[in-house]
Amino acid sequence: MAIQAPEGTKDLLPDEALFWNQFKACATEVFGCYGYVPIETPIFEQTELFVRGIGEATDVVSKEMFTAVSGENLKRLLEGGSIKSKSRLSMRPEGTAGVVRAVVQHDLVPQGAAPAKLMYAGPMFRAERPQKGRQRQFNQIGIECLGAEEPTVDAEAIIMLMRFYEKVGIPPEATRLYVNSMGCDSCRPAYRELVRAYMNEHAHELCETCMTRAEINPLRAFDCKNDKCDEVMEGAPKITDHLCDDCREHYAAVRELLDGAGVAYVENPKLVRGLDYYTRTVFEAQVVDGLGSQNAIGGGGRYDKLAEEVGGRPTPGLGFALGYERCMLALQAAGVEFPKAARCDLFVACVDDSVRARAFGLVQACRDAGFVVEMDHQKRSLKSQFKLADKLGATRVAILGPDELAQGCVKLRDMATREEELVELESLSAKLS
Ligand code: HAM
Repeated sequence: MAIQAPEGTKDLLPDEALFWNQFKACATEVFGCYGYVPIETPIFEQTELFVRGIGEATDVVSKEMFTAVSGENLKRLLEGGSIKSKSRLSMRPEGTAGVVRAVVQHDLVPQGAAPAKLMYAGPMFRAERPQKGRQRQFNQIGIECLGAEEPTVDAEAIIMLMRFYEKVGIPPEATRLYVNSMGCDSCRPAYRELVRAYMNEHAHELCETCMTRAEINPLRAFDCKNDKCDEVMEGAPKITDHLCDDCREHYAAVRELLDGAGVAYVENPKLVRGLDYYTRTVFEAQVVDGLGSQNAIGGGGRYDKLAEEVGGRPTPGLGFALGYERCMLALQAAGVEFPKAARCDLFVACVDDSVRARAFGLVQACRDAGFVVEMDHQKRSLKSQFKLADKLGATRVAILGPDELAQGCVKLRDMATREEELVELESLSAKLS
């Protein structure tokens, strides 16, 4: 059997690859209005970055990372040897840790500077069980704003995300935005203990995984997909009842700004997100139906301690990422038509082989003038060349034969009206515009 793409990966065939480019262009345009500029970081980083940044107890780090080593190091490991910790690499499961590492490494936010507003787009890798809307390699578009802790940054990013969905074609009524605050170092530890105590009281009703996680981070239990755990955690203490004054004010200010911008949201005190770096604001956009359990089309939050976790100086941050493939499913569910990759302004057809070299030159000249032009490479009959022109969706066909050539002309056919006219070779590209 021919070799297939690895499980959980998906080829973006031409129409979809074209749409991915348009999708990125739309994000660049929308996010650009808010001052975001591109950054590209490596697809693999030191494993240690993700362990420290995202958190050892998270599913993403404990179970889902694709770890990469060079061939030489793999040999060493297989022979029972050891390798340097900096040689342990992992494919990025998300973009935030890498961007924050780059900001720290290149000092992109010197003290007192305006925040760095960065955006990225590209593949992420998580060894999850593949299902609809869940892949092992998927594409994200994300933004990170580093250097400001004010609630306007949070609100601005959330507004921008929701504007993007609308601009790209996901109807606002098809999405729901959830928001929460995860507190900070001064209020979360006490809250965490309250949740731990609550979980211990309900230990017999919770799954084993939740109870094991309770040891390291009890808040992960809010994320458990088990229905019974979900029901039990419904009764757990709510973070929003235990925020310190600063966090309460910050959260209130974010919501007020969203209200002012007319952005609808639902407060969800159980929203903890699957990554450990979050502090204060967290948010997630979900589609109301059509995507089953993988219905989160984007999410993010504030991470004021992450820069320090990866060895930098204190630098507050906030960001989000949205999943391209899930957005595509949401667009399909909304009945959005995707443009076709193929566009063909002109097909140059040869009546016989004697004009092929001239046709080749003509095609080139029209391409140089900026048109999408094709010709046959396989010596097809004139009839087959017309079939091909039709298949490519050519709007016009230039027919070139010895008779036309003798007059320094081509016969130009409009494929919609079937009208034909003789056009001088020199004025062909002008005729196309
Ligand atoms: P995340 O919620 O893990 O956040 O992922 C963001 C989005 O990526 C999800 O809402 C979903 O649309 C998509 N996604 C995640 N996993 C998969 C998968 N296996 N298959 C298909 N799509 C998937 C982050 O990654 C954070 N880095 C976001 C962030 C940026 N927080 C702060 N800054």
